[in-house]
Amino acid sequence: MHRVRKDFRDLTQDPYVAEGFRRKHIVRYRVQKKSDGCPSRTELLELPQQPLFQGKRFNPVHGGIHRAYPLFTPNLHSMMIIKEFVKQTRVQEGACILVQAQRITCTSSQEGQPSVENWHQDDVDEVGILCVTRKNIVGGVSQFCDTQNIVTSSILKEGQFIIFNDAAFRHRVTPINVDINGSSGLRDVLLMSHGGSSEPQNLDLARRQGYLSILYEYLAILVRDGLVHEVHLWNYTRDEQDEIWLRSGRFNKYNLSQFTVKEPPSKGDWSNYYQYYAANRDALFGDDVLIKLDDDVVYIDVAGFAAFIDRRRKEKNHLFAFPNIINNGVCAYYQTMYGFTAGYFEPDELPYDTFYGRVVTDGVLAKRLHEMFLSNVQGFTSRARSLAQPVVVHKMGDRISINFFAVLGKDIGVFADIVSDDEHECTVELTKKHSRQHYIDMSLVIAVNVSALRMATVKNTMENIPHSVF
Ligand SMILES: [Fe+2]
Repeated sequence: MHRVRKDFRDLTQDPYVAEGFRRKHIVRYRVQKKSDGCPSRTELLELPQQPLFQGKRFNPVHGGIHRAYPLFTPNLHSMMIIKEFVKQTRVQEGACILVQAQRITCTSSQEGQPSVENWHQDDVDEVGILCVTRKNIVGGVSQFCDTQNIVTSSILKEGQFIIFNDAAFRHRVTPINVDINGSSGLRDVLLMSHGGSSEPQNLDLARRQGYLSILYEYLAILVRDGLVHEVHLWNYTRDEQDEIWLRSGRFNKYNLSQFTVKEPPSKGDWSNYYQYYAANRDALFGDDVLIKLDDDVVYIDVAGFAAFIDRRRKEKNHLFAFPNIINNGVCAYYQTMYGFTAGYFEPDELPYDTFYGRVVTDGVLAKRLHEMFLSNVQGFTSRARSLAQPVVVHKMGDRISINFFAVLGKDIGVFADIVSDDEHECTVELTKKHSRQHYIDMSLVIAVNVSALRMATVKNTMENIPHSVF
């Protein structure tokens, strides 16, 4: 139990309990067949972090609000407990397991309430509770009642694990107070549940957590493989829950000290980061490669990344390098030219759109483009990587979406000119001013979710973008 206990050391205060007696981190997993295909074995796939949500009917205190919590990253020993819960409850493949690491504290002047809602049900199928620590406390009695009477009332001791059917009982845990041994006490539990409100809500597309959860996985691979040395996350969020999430240490699980969150001096001004790198140009070598990418990048062909960087260093005379982007009007045109879309689109269906074209505005067309890619990701990317002539020189002065581009350290000074409309300035103005063209490297495939106009297709994309490369 002492090994599970280590996971509770760094829990942060629950912002939704004003009295400050609760700490909570959460994580969700999807139960899925093991990748070795053995039908009798399952594994747990971590899901993108999403808030907790319960209806007001079940939780009069916190019902009806989305509560964002930092990610809980269980160690091997905690994971064994979670797997035991999966085994004991015999949940089916596809079920979602919600895991909450929770600490309730108390002092001589403040009691702690394990059940802020008192008697309640959780709107889930089954609940598992492992008592990890009881330290210097009295109280904390787990009680269950049927329609009229308390049927069980007992203190869960350290190491004890119970599983119950949420629909069959109402339950509560009585408040805790410090005992005679100290001036403060605590009760740590690992809570597990499946069904009902354990499930993630539909992705909240007004927020960026969903996108970033996916993007982080790709960035982590690139860092792990030594292809990317630093990741700077520029925090422009104005959403409180995204802010909590961004600071939650999501990337700590990779032990990636290369990830840093940078705070712009003003959140409304997109030129901040261009100005920052222009001002710090001396920190870069001439052949260093700086990539600017947006948080809506949801797929990167990591196998094609090294060649993209090598080619970027060779193409010294071109200003910016763009990859082969799924959902980009210019790239879609070249995808047709290169034969990627044959059999899916007529030759004239994807015209050369530099700005706000059909790929952005026509949801049906965009969805077809997605489905084409998703139906054969391996074929698409391997074809891209084997192109003999992958470089397309972009027409000078034409606009192109800047979801992802690479610039050499020697050229970073051009960023100083970017002060307002960055996409226009990066693609139209800079090329003309410096008489240098951008290029598209068709060998590296990435995909983006670009537009709120295509909300109907975005969810589909999020769920289907292959994660098999991880
Ligand atoms: Fe409960």
